[in-house]
Amino acid sequence: MGYPAVRLSRMRRTPHLRASLRETHVIPSRLFLPVFLDPTVSRPTPITSMPGHFRYPVHAATDLVRRAEKARLGGLLLFGRPSVKRVDGVGARDPKGVVPTFLRKHAGNTSLTLVADVCLCAYTTSGHCGVGKSGKIESAATLAALSRAAAAYAEAGADWVAPSAMADGQVAAIRKELDDRSRDEVAIMSYGLKSSSALYDPFREAEDSAPATGDRKSYQMDYSNAREGLRELEFDAEEGADVLMVKPGLTQLDLLWRARQRFSHPLAIYHVSGEYAQVKAAAEKGWLEESRVVPEIFTAFFRAGADLVFSYYALEAVEQGWI
Ligand code: PBG
Ligand code: ZN
Repeated sequence: MGYPAVRLSRMRRTPHLRASLRETHVIPSRLFLPVFLDPTVSRPTPITSMPGHFRYPVHAATDLVRRAEKARLGGLLLFGRPSVKRVDGVGARDPKGVVPTFLRKHAGNTSLTLVADVCLCAYTTSGHCGVGKSGKIESAATLAALSRAAAAYAEAGADWVAPSAMADGQVAAIRKELDDRSRDEVAIMSYGLKSSSALYDPFREAEDSAPATGDRKSYQMDYSNAREGLRELEFDAEEGADVLMVKPGLTQLDLLWRARQRFSHPLAIYHVSGEYAQVKAAAEKGWLEESRVVPEIFTAFFRAGADLVFSYYALEAVEQGWI
């Protein structure tokens, strides 16, 4: 049967009807906000390529926590950096570092899920996500460093740790370290399918974490490869990841959708810094209305199969009533 008996527009006549029939909903508890903590600043310091975002000293981040709670966001994704970068990135595991300090202050007295990013690139002098001699990443040393960092965050009260180094075996190594330390309640969200992307550049300004030499292509995924991406996720699932992530977001919606068909795990997508910057810049120029663009992007993520969306727009979208 076709037109005129079938007329799909019949079902979208009024706003009320459209609301009743909407298949995909954006709700605050599924949105997570990335937060940059910085021990080298004494007040929130703007990030040039991410207008509206700041590097926070721990003491000045409390207001942001309260706003995120009030907005009923799902949680925060915490990024830190050291006072001084070291060859081996030991600052990542320092219990006095900004991330553990933040966690000790807020864990247990917030409704937000506190997720600690686990990587070395902000902490190493090389700006690479792993450690090793003469520019080559050494697997064993990197896994040990990542596990120790994850343990420091878990012991400070992180609900989840989120390894983003794309080091083979990182999920298994971290799971073992956490369990050996009786932190079996702490979950692992793996950035399993993380592609090497030009869309991370604003983040690298925020974290001062750009590689000093070379790029990350020998460990991050080639964005041309869908099947390889699914294998990455499969390994992380086998290693015990509790949440699987696809990153970046809009450029990899097809991969998210394929992951949705294959896995029953909760799936997260990261709407990364460069994606935020694109919309923000166009909005500042008056070329796009973010109040309408952002809900459309969030809806696309959920429609494609995401359970959780990590976005620099998470808080603004709720506070401004865009979703
Ligand atoms: C570090 C890390 C990066 C992002 C999250 N964790 C940058 C990178 O891999 O270069 C990117 C986040 C963003 O762009 O918003 N391992
Ligand atoms: Zn890294």
